[in-house]
Amino acid sequence: MKSGKVDALLGIVFGDEGKGKVVDYFTPQYDVIARFAGGPNAGHTIIFDGKKFILRSIPSGVFDTHKINIIGNGCVLAPDLFQAEANELESAGYSLKERLHISKRAQLILPTHRCLDRAYETLKGKGKIGTTGKGIGPTYSDKAARVGLRVGDILNNFDEKYAALKARHERILHDLHFDYDITEEEQKWMAGVEYMRQFQLTDSEVEINAFLDNGKSVLAEGAQGTLLDIDHGTYPFVSSSSTTCGGVCTGLGIAPSRIGEVFGIFKAYSTRVGAGPFPVELFDKTGDTLRNIGHEYGAVTGRNRRCGWIDLVALKYAVTINGVTQLIMMKSDVLDDFKTIKACTAYQKNGQTFTTMPYDTEGCDAVYEELCGWQCDLTKMTDEEAFPQAFKDYIAFIEAYVKVPIKIVSVGPDRTATIVRK
Ligand code: GDP
Ligand code: IMO
Ligand code: MG
Repeated sequence: MKSGKVDALLGIVFGDEGKGKVVDYFTPQYDVIARFAGGPNAGHTIIFDGKKFILRSIPSGVFDTHKINIIGNGCVLAPDLFQAEANELESAGYSLKERLHISKRAQLILPTHRCLDRAYETLKGKGKIGTTGKGIGPTYSDKAARVGLRVGDILNNFDEKYAALKARHERILHDLHFDYDITEEEQKWMAGVEYMRQFQLTDSEVEINAFLDNGKSVLAEGAQGTLLDIDHGTYPFVSSSSTTCGGVCTGLGIAPSRIGEVFGIFKAYSTRVGAGPFPVELFDKTGDTLRNIGHEYGAVTGRNRRCGWIDLVALKYAVTINGVTQLIMMKSDVLDDFKTIKACTAYQKNGQTFTTMPYDTEGCDAVYEELCGWQCDLTKMTDEEAFPQAFKDYIAFIEAYVKVPIKIVSVGPDRTATIVRK
């Protein structure tokens, strides 16, 4: 952390790496925590003092009540879901109205965006993406088409603007013969809009730059992961926002020269939720074991997460795309019982070997190297000195491949199960 800088904490694989846990852990070191991309498709889990929270649109810095949290211009926000999420935090004693600021430029997810999300998925049939159904794709599409509604729109002639965009969506839904009834949902949504008026709706890019000019430090909290990025992910099986380091600049309105550290967060193995190519996916008992031990079920949709060994080709690619300066390895404890552990170091397709990310990973087979498991309980450890040699070797193997140091190792879901390496 440096004053006047924005450090980025980015999921660098397929999301669900443990961003929520680490942002919460880092928060005391920063003045401001800001989300720059995504919306309620995210599910960030934070566990401390026997309490568990899953945050979707609200930054994971809210549990330190002295810090400002910002939902940046690159985000998309559903007022009804936002109200439910904020209410839950407020009833748990975390007041938000003064210290959660929302960018007037963030886009609004309408109830009809969610219908369109479902309608487009139905239309794709077998090729469906397996979205979270939160209206993310249609909302970002409207943003790019320059017809979207922004948070700032609720301050001025809102009913008229809402009706126009809703009518546009209804014409599409009608053409697609998509049946829907949003009567109840729309009431909650409108109530959410009223609720949002109680928050500080700001020109967040001006605000963040002023914080930085005054020597404050900002932590940018990523959502999703690099392989779900609209440009750099496994397109079209991606989300619709810029989840990578470039997205921090556009999603908060800060210059590239403001970026300080780039923390790349990944799990000691791989998971993916939703459809799309996943060369390391295991369809056998080992995959089931990883899912069971790692509790790999989606925080937003409850779906089974697809599981496999670590993918170093993907990791190295993400390190390059984001300019990662420090790595954070999560869920190391999930591998505690394995006698041997594999790491994917290349892909093969049609007789060709790839060590850099190919255009399309569909049909790629993973090439593995096998390492010794450590077969002991990492969750009891509080210092890297106590790590078994086989675990040290696993860390060194990853570092040698991607050429960036692993600075933090997580050995359990709780805030305290976090080991900083020297
Ligand atoms: P995010 O979307 O990146 O914030 O990650 P999620 O919250 O969707 O998923 C991460 C899951 O792993 C959550 O259930 C966390 O409580 C859990 N978790 C985080 N770190 C660890 C760890 O080191 N070990 C174990 N066993 N679980 C962890
Ligand atoms: P966090 O922030 C994991 C996936 C969905 C789907 C694809 C597109 O918790 O890491 P969308 O609803 O965004 O249009 O879905 O992206 N996806 C995520 N997977 N973690 C997430 O967020 C995700 N957000 C979206 O499963 O495959
Ligand atoms: Mg998640």
